[in-house]
Amino acid sequence: MSTAIESNLKEKRVFKPTKEFSKAARIQSLAQYREMWEESIERPDKFWGREASELTWQTKWSKVLDWKEPYAQWFVGGKLNVSENCLDRHLLTARKNKAAIIWEGEPGEKRVLTYQQLHREVCRFANVLKRNKIKKGDRVLIYMPMIPEAAVAMLACARIGATHSVVFGGFSADSIRDRITDSKAVMVITTDGGYRRGSIVPLKKNVDDALRDDPQSIKKVIVFRRAGNDVHIEEGRDVWWHREMDYVNAVCPAEPLDSEHPLFILYTSGSTGKPKGILHTTGGYLLQAYATSKYVFDLRDEDVYWCTADIGWVTGHSYVVYGPLACGATSLMYEGAPNWPENDRFWRIIEEYAVTVFYTAPTAIRAFIRWGDQWIKKHDLSSLRLLGSVGEPISPDAWMWYHNVIGGGRCPIVDTWWQTETGAIMITTLPGAIPAKPGSAGLPFFGVDAVIVDDDGKEVGPNVGGKVVIRKPWPSMLRSIYGDKPRYKKTYWSEVKGAYFAGDGAHRDKDGYFLIAGRIDDVLNVAGHRLGTSEIEGALGSHPAVAEAAVVGRPDELKGQGVVAFVVLKGGIAVEPHLREELRQHVGQVIGPIAKPDDIRFAEGLPKTRSGKIMRRLLKEIAGGKAITGDTTTLEDLSIIAKLSSNSD
Ligand code: PRX
Repeated sequence: MSTAIESNLKEKRVFKPTKEFSKAARIQSLAQYREMWEESIERPDKFWGREASELTWQTKWSKVLDWKEPYAQWFVGGKLNVSENCLDRHLLTARKNKAAIIWEGEPGEKRVLTYQQLHREVCRFANVLKRNKIKKGDRVLIYMPMIPEAAVAMLACARIGATHSVVFGGFSADSIRDRITDSKAVMVITTDGGYRRGSIVPLKKNVDDALRDDPQSIKKVIVFRRAGNDVHIEEGRDVWWHREMDYVNAVCPAEPLDSEHPLFILYTSGSTGKPKGILHTTGGYLLQAYATSKYVFDLRDEDVYWCTADIGWVTGHSYVVYGPLACGATSLMYEGAPNWPENDRFWRIIEEYAVTVFYTAPTAIRAFIRWGDQWIKKHDLSSLRLLGSVGEPISPDAWMWYHNVIGGGRCPIVDTWWQTETGAIMITTLPGAIPAKPGSAGLPFFGVDAVIVDDDGKEVGPNVGGKVVIRKPWPSMLRSIYGDKPRYKKTYWSEVKGAYFAGDGAHRDKDGYFLIAGRIDDVLNVAGHRLGTSEIEGALGSHPAVAEAAVVGRPDELKGQGVVAFVVLKGGIAVEPHLREELRQHVGQVIGPIAKPDDIRFAEGLPKTRSGKIMRRLLKEIAGGKAITGDTTTLEDLSIIAKLSSNSD
């Protein structure tokens, strides 16, 4: 058992919602939550049918769920459009002139787009897509900074039935190329550049590099001018966003799409191979993004809601764009870094826009703690009423700090456990109903049949560790890995019979609360970013000096996990001091800066079992600086261990 989990299990503090908060919340008590949860599990058709009727359907469904494990179809026969649900339907109400997106650029520009204005931009850009021959079902890659046009691009794809695949702006040209090859995307939407900590990230140049050797499937690149940096425009392929917008009008009816029509593909790391394209579809995804935004953030028309995630991650999809806009909420977007120009940028923004609901990640919270409370004390954060956390386990200490220093001791905190694959929040503490326990993700959301099982697939009792599985389909579940159904089945539906295997280890306490320990597969969580060890090993292995590499995580105070690489060089290549940095840069180029190893240790060989498997547990212990425990008699070459542990920086 990890020490983090041990201390979380010992945590005794419980924070009940205040009477005031509960009275105003949609779900007001534990009893109400339990009653609704039971209905959602026993009669999912009734529960989800009722929730779905709050959305706008062009054709009503004939059946709520068709389930043939592992394939689900939700709202069979139903037709709807995500962009219509996020935009058009609000134009019929007083929300028409309400702020849909409040945006601040890193250099300080400010923009507000009302629902009406956002609708207009989306309709026009959807016409630009059509003008550039994008059809329903085409894949469109979006590689943009956090600017309103990123949301416009996503919603415009959704409007005409094109399937978007957003690639995080921190990924490299190689990563873009891999995603284009896998998804067979026909268009890229990008910007000249984006701002990050005062400098300009050359996004268009990365796209050019990705397309250099092989034009692949890409026919068009649309470039939005954001940073004003010089870019190359390839005649016949590249067009400027602003010029294209001049040719179109704002009339673009939302295409009626089948509930199972592919809405987006989002690539994420797994324990083997290259990142997988997680496929999400229309009706079920939108419904759960909507329902969780409504119940977990308890969004109100008066709220100014800010989720700090980038749209390149699933949190940005579900909780910057689709969920809040489907609720008719005001979603705040900020382009840049939290410490630009100074460490109080977030608190300035909260004060200036009177943010009421704030959703961020533990890795950011740990950075805020390190920067010191003085940055926070300078600002009035009294507008906040609810806080959220996502992406990794939050320690009880960080939770308490978040509660006291940011939340002024009055705001409930919703810890939210979910994944790219789950599409929307799965385990949480509904803020008016479920008492929160620091360090614990809480209880399953409606319709979520999550349990913890042992290696034989049997449910374990309280305080016993095991694997997190989900025993019933849920509306926003991934439908497949794009283009690879067998891998979908093998990865998620084979490890534990009859259940979805999440890849996480956890305990439940006596009240059924989930305490998530983290990944139990070869996936790392570095500063809330998901990275596959095999992916980083592949990147290292592509360097001409490297014979073999093994990558493991080690606990890191700030990032949660740090990346440690054990590298065996090719015969005849000496360990030169510059090689460490060169290998780090190489990984940065192949994957992106977030994947650069924190520590590279050169070794003469890697510890392997007699069957040739790398002994990762051992490497983890060495990387974490722990004494080696357990049985090592199957090691091929015991002397390697001693060398590995002493050969660090
Ligand atoms: O290990 C869990 C961790 O993040 C993983 C999913 O990563 P990703 O698909 O990138 O999605 C992140 C945002 C939803 C999970 O397998 N994780 C996510 N949320 C939590 C968490 N671990 C503990 N507590 C959470 N609230």
